[in-house]
Amino acid sequence: MFWEDKTILLTFLLVYISTQVAGLNERQQNAQCAELNSTRWLQSRQHRIRLQVQYLLLTRRNQNCAQRFNQASLTQQSSHFNVSSPTKVIIHGYRPPGTKPSWAMDLAQALLTAQDVNVLIVDWVYGASFAYNVVVENYKEVALQISVLINQLLNHGCKPESFHLLGVSLGAHVAGFVGTLFEGQIGRITGLDPAGPMFKRADTYDRLDPSDAQFVDAIHTDSDYFGISIPVGHVDFFLNGGKDQNGCSRSKFSSMFGYVICDHMRAMHVYMNALNGSCTLMGFPCSTYEDFLKGGCVDCELFKGRCPVIGLSKNSGITTLPLPREQKLFLLTTSSPPFCAHHILLKLEVSGMEKSADVEVRLMSESQETEQRLRLPRDTTEYKMVLAHPAAMCEIETIRLKNTGARLYRQGEVHVKSVCISELPFVRHEQLLCVNNINLRRGVPWSHDFVQVCETS
Ligand SMILES: *[C@@H]1O[C@H](CO)[C@@H](O)[C@H](O)[C@H]1NC(C)=O
Ligand SMILES: *[C@@H]1O[C@H](CO)[C@@H](O)[C@H](O)[C@H]1NC(C)=O
Ligand SMILES: *[C@@H]1O[C@H](CO)[C@@H](O)[C@H](O)[C@H]1NC(C)=O
Repeated sequence: MFWEDKTILLTFLLVYISTQVAGLNERQQNAQCAELNSTRWLQSRQHRIRLQVQYLLLTRRNQNCAQRFNQASLTQQSSHFNVSSPTKVIIHGYRPPGTKPSWAMDLAQALLTAQDVNVLIVDWVYGASFAYNVVVENYKEVALQISVLINQLLNHGCKPESFHLLGVSLGAHVAGFVGTLFEGQIGRITGLDPAGPMFKRADTYDRLDPSDAQFVDAIHTDSDYFGISIPVGHVDFFLNGGKDQNGCSRSKFSSMFGYVICDHMRAMHVYMNALNGSCTLMGFPCSTYEDFLKGGCVDCELFKGRCPVIGLSKNSGITTLPLPREQKLFLLTTSSPPFCAHHILLKLEVSGMEKSADVEVRLMSESQETEQRLRLPRDTTEYKMVLAHPAAMCEIETIRLKNTGARLYRQGEVHVKSVCISELPFVRHEQLLCVNNINLRRGVPWSHDFVQVCETS
């Protein structure tokens, strides 16, 4: 999509969102607690567009009531900032006017639940609103201001490696530029769907890249639209291929805007769930999503058996050195929280066919099922495919196959030599469930029940 189209779309988006948000989101004003700024608040007072940055501090001692933070706070008794604790810095991106990044508070709370840290929310709402290209001009200025603050914190005894910057969308490149200013000494930067427009072809100096911090991880969920399609970290998790997310409606017009934002913001929602630690989101190293889906990348050998995971573990759980750079990782997710899916590799071997065939595969656990349609071309007899199933393989009770091919055009009877399932990542004692020698007549479902027990490890 060309830039002009994006501008038009953004304009629509702004109008749409401002009408949606007007009247909402006015959290109960507590005089004691600092709030994210809103452009409407400022607009009523001044009409000049200029950058204003404020910082909100949340710690375990004030989890629900942010304190305004600046360098003066460092010498104030009342400030909850603890120079001995690590510091997380949340940086939002482009904001449609009139909206606040209200998720920032949720992310801060999720971080505090996971770790005893200082959380600073960088609020640059005023600079982040209005035309996207004007906002892009502001991002280095924001980065400069953040770096001034971090410098003050360093003077008070904080260590550069104790900083972890988390940037959403354009905020990821703000974080990257802060990292550039500190010559890669910052501990970690996490980019949550780093912005794509105007950055994909940018010099690494101008965008997030692995040299910006000791460890850079990124999650990509909308790389065909607002997100960036190239890897920008040591590791880059591409969720469901990194473009379109399950549960974000793909229908046009009416839900167009909701869908655009949905894909883009999914990175943040998935990350928040990963912090909560209820399940593991593991990425598999692979060069392309297509290869991954075709079962071309099924193990974690590259990382000595331990694939990177989304979340706060050091270096995303990588224990091997040197660290990779711009390593693409792929994983499938479910459409709703907690988003974790089990990756089931399906292998199908059929006897030679005269025509191509359509086969529907269904995996069923107690309360969940996964359905996938396969087109089997005439000239191939072996198929592999990775499916996302909400439950572990040991909970799969039934596999069902159905030859759904149209009369005349597709193979009437498909002879399946074997159908096997196994769960990724493959390990040496991999568990493989197979059923052999099945005749699938058109329209007649075939199913097989597995008897398995889940090992408790
Ligand atoms: C918005 O930011 C300005 C400048 O930092 C500050 O004076 C004002 O109190 C803030 N407003 C709200 C509602 O937080
Ligand atoms: C600051 O953090 C250190 C290390 O986490 C802790 O030992 C200390 O008690 C904290 N100080 C306050 C005032 O909470
Ligand atoms: C973690 O996420 C799960 C699923 O979204 C939710 O049910 C659970 O309450 C969350 N736990 C915490 C501590 O937030």
